[in-house]
Amino acid sequence: MKKFILDCDPGHDDAFAIMLAAQNLDLLGVTTVGGNGYLPNVTRNALVVLEKIGRTDIPVYPGHAGPSTTTLITAPNVHGKSGLDGPVVTEPIRKPESKHAVDFIVETVMNTDHVTLAATGPLTNIAAAINREPRIVDRVDALYIMGGGAYAGNWTPAAEFNIYVDAEAAYKVFHSGINLYMVGVNLTRQCPVTDEFKESMRSLGNIAGVFGAELCDFFARGGDARLHDACAVAWAIDPTLIQEAFLHVDIELNGTLTRGMTVTDLRFLQTDKCEADIDLTSTKKWNDPPEGSPFRGKEPNTHVAMRLDYPRFKELVLRTLKNYN
Ligand code: RIB
Ligand code: CA
Repeated sequence: MKKFILDCDPGHDDAFAIMLAAQNLDLLGVTTVGGNGYLPNVTRNALVVLEKIGRTDIPVYPGHAGPSTTTLITAPNVHGKSGLDGPVVTEPIRKPESKHAVDFIVETVMNTDHVTLAATGPLTNIAAAINREPRIVDRVDALYIMGGGAYAGNWTPAAEFNIYVDAEAAYKVFHSGINLYMVGVNLTRQCPVTDEFKESMRSLGNIAGVFGAELCDFFARGGDARLHDACAVAWAIDPTLIQEAFLHVDIELNGTLTRGMTVTDLRFLQTDKCEADIDLTSTKKWNDPPEGSPFRGKEPNTHVAMRLDYPRFKELVLRTLKNYN
């Protein structure tokens, strides 16, 4: 199994990312970052999830409380005051590790070959790790992120929450040269938390299945939830679950209306069709933008998730929940 580090801000969908990673990957550690909730809360929530699934062997390392350049924005309207409202849980017995998340990421990657990173919250810790030790960029096998969107955002019309919260960190990551896999909201909108999916979890009848259903009861209470973060980890588990396009992506920092946008150059797809009809297997590259275009010559830098095999994704989630005692 892939050696894996998950940086997250639990968060209901982060909880599913943890549960998928803990069973299907060699999860070396969970690191936490301010995002959906404040750092103490998301760290407590990571411990809660790991105890729920009986994986108290997996350490949790707290990281940065928020961006270094802007004030943290949280999402209590989505995840509740605790960041994991809904399920009735007991306070975790374990404490988080005393080592900082960034130290854990850097030390582990520098001392262990073939580590895969994933980030399902703002990229604050990942950017800080790259700043601390740029060599991790070439040492990691890949970085999978839930963030951004090929066409639009969810926190603003242009920007997705994780990128918007710490756009400077995202800029650092997208400009680092790391082997980057982006699961944006263009992909995760294909991953609805339906009543059928939720009841399939509950009918498993075990702790993890009921826990997953209770997380969804709260998370999908407004009727329009997506298991965003689980898609990023699922891609690392089974690359066949997602069809991608290798595109040039950059981060808008200064736009009044577009700050935090993952500006995705879809012209690399040889198409004038709508998304549903894009031939993702086409290897023909769009002609370079005209002379004078600031995008001329900008090569693809990101594996952009475009299409999800939703039925097989659900099978993976249900199989994973079922396999927990
Ligand atoms: O925009 C969705 C992302 O923001 C997910 O990672 C969710 O957990 C929140 O952090
Ligand atoms: Ca998250």
